[in-house]
Amino acid sequence: MTDLTPAAPATPDPQVLDAFRAATGFMPEDEGLALYAAALEAAGRTGLPLLEIGTYCGRSAILLADAARRAGTVALTVDHHRGSEEQQPGWEYHDPTLVDPEVGLMDTLPRFRRTLHAAGLEPHVVALVGRSPQIAAVWQGRLSLVFIDGGHTDEHATGDYLGWAPHLAEDGLLVVHDVFPDPADGGQAPYRVYLRALDEGFEEVSVTGSLRVLRRAAS
Ligand SMILES: C[S@@+](CC[C@H](N)C(=O)[O-])C[C@H]1O[C@@H](n2cnc3c(N)ncnc32)[C@H](O)[C@@H]1O
Repeated sequence: MTDLTPAAPATPDPQVLDAFRAATGFMPEDEGLALYAAALEAAGRTGLPLLEIGTYCGRSAILLADAARRAGTVALTVDHHRGSEEQQPGWEYHDPTLVDPEVGLMDTLPRFRRTLHAAGLEPHVVALVGRSPQIAAVWQGRLSLVFIDGGHTDEHATGDYLGWAPHLAEDGLLVVHDVFPDPADGGQAPYRVYLRALDEGFEEVSVTGSLRVLRRAAS
């Protein structure tokens, strides 16, 4: 029998979109919507968790948490919450309001928690606080989607790919942020990860700004 039920739109509800727009972070809206559509598709199809490397203050995690909610699964988000190189004092992306005055280091965890709480999405997200390679090394479960938006050096971006891509389910999605083929537009480490993934059997699904969605080809 033909199912005439209209498919749910692959866009967040207005209040989720408002929370995304209000959140501290770096992701443009068109890239966020592409991430959301990929997350909804991958989690809806497999029922498996979504995973992000690079929580920061929760801007993209809002979208992953809402996609997980709709798909009946959970969004996992990994960060040591001490900031990347370019977010440290004196660097381009430093935000002094994110420094813990007691310890004198960046701490984005409180802002993340407030952001997800205000969006009503806390029950659908699990924060994994620590270094990505250490968590990846002990992780056992399969994932529907891996979103790489952590450290942007070769060491960190490649480590995230090598640590987490093996946990993807067959047909799972790999999403890489800040892919800039032209060095004039930005750092090259995520671009090199993207090229390596294509070389190792991933297929491109979509391109939105600097966001690339790839699918692990069935073996
Ligand atoms: C570009 S920000 C993430 C932005 C976020 N996805 C958004 O939409 O606003 C990168 C984050 O990765 C984290 N990070 C960098 N290297 C890491 C590592 N090796 N392990 C865990 N987190 C890391 C930083 O602390 C920082 O919060």
